[in-house]
Amino acid sequence: MTNIAILGCGNIGGFIANAIYRGVIHCKLSKVFDENRKTAENFRKYVNIDFQVADSIEELMEGVDLVVETASQEAVREYGINILNAGKHLMVLSVGALADNELFRNMKKAARKNNVKIYVPSGGIIGIDGINAAKLASIESVEITTRKNPINLGVDVDRETLVFEGPASEGVMKFPRNVNVAATVGIAGIGMDRTDLRIIADPNIKRNIHEIYVKGDFGEFTTVTKNIPSTQNPKTSWIAALSAIAMLKEIFEVVQIGT
Ligand SMILES: NC(=O)c1ccc[n+]([C@@H]2O[C@H](COP(=O)([O-])OP(=O)(O)OC[C@H]3O[C@@H](n4cnc5c(N)ncnc54)[C@H](O)[C@@H]3O)[C@@H](O)[C@H]2O)c1
Repeated sequence: MTNIAILGCGNIGGFIANAIYRGVIHCKLSKVFDENRKTAENFRKYVNIDFQVADSIEELMEGVDLVVETASQEAVREYGINILNAGKHLMVLSVGALADNELFRNMKKAARKNNVKIYVPSGGIIGIDGINAAKLASIESVEITTRKNPINLGVDVDRETLVFEGPASEGVMKFPRNVNVAATVGIAGIGMDRTDLRIIADPNIKRNIHEIYVKGDFGEFTTVTKNIPSTQNPKTSWIAALSAIAMLKEIFEVVQIGT
């Protein structure tokens, strides 16, 4: 059975560990690591699995095949290349980090050199399958509109307000904790610089809403995703955790359905 490690024992990490515990994902959770050791220890309260709490990233990687990053963009920057160079597959949830072209290029280089993969789940958005297919012909434009409650965006406004409009590469820098979706759409499609992003703060909504519009040789499509925030971390949509679980499930299943 494949041994996996979780880097970052918060909300998404907890969902994934719980899915392994319930047998939804056919792999073994061997190790966990969090910059806050107490957080990692507390993980045991929710997940009754005999995993080891690692004291360092080196210890986390020892004897595992795949590291699932559910921590932060800093963690991807700090550990991403080392994990790949150690010959471990890496799943990245903090996709905003991959907006750094140089980091992403070097990570891909390390993955190729060590014959391992970088997995990026769809996260909080529906439609990445369509972008992957459309890209095989030609995509002319990609637009994404993210609409969240101001509290989740960390801005103080009392009415519907456009807080960012421009290339996704800039938006990701301004709202790093909130635009993983824009980063995923950008790297899947025509790049962060050519992906047009609008971020709207709306005090009248409780859900995190993402709308993408893609136009290309194939025609056009629009997807609208109205996400329920996680109770543990309202900045994170529940479906982001579910999408990581779905991807892990697919990695370890014998049948794959859909593109
Ligand atoms: N891809 C997507 O669509 C998507 C959607 C939602 C969230 N996310 C991202 O996924 C990540 C996890 O989200 P969450 O809701 O579980 O967050 P969370 O804050 O609940 O948990 C993160 C955990 O990681 C730990 N951590 C942070 N930096 C670390 C580091 N450098 N080294 C070790 N541990 C570290 C924290 O102590 C915390 O326990 C975040 O970066 C978030 O922005 C991605």
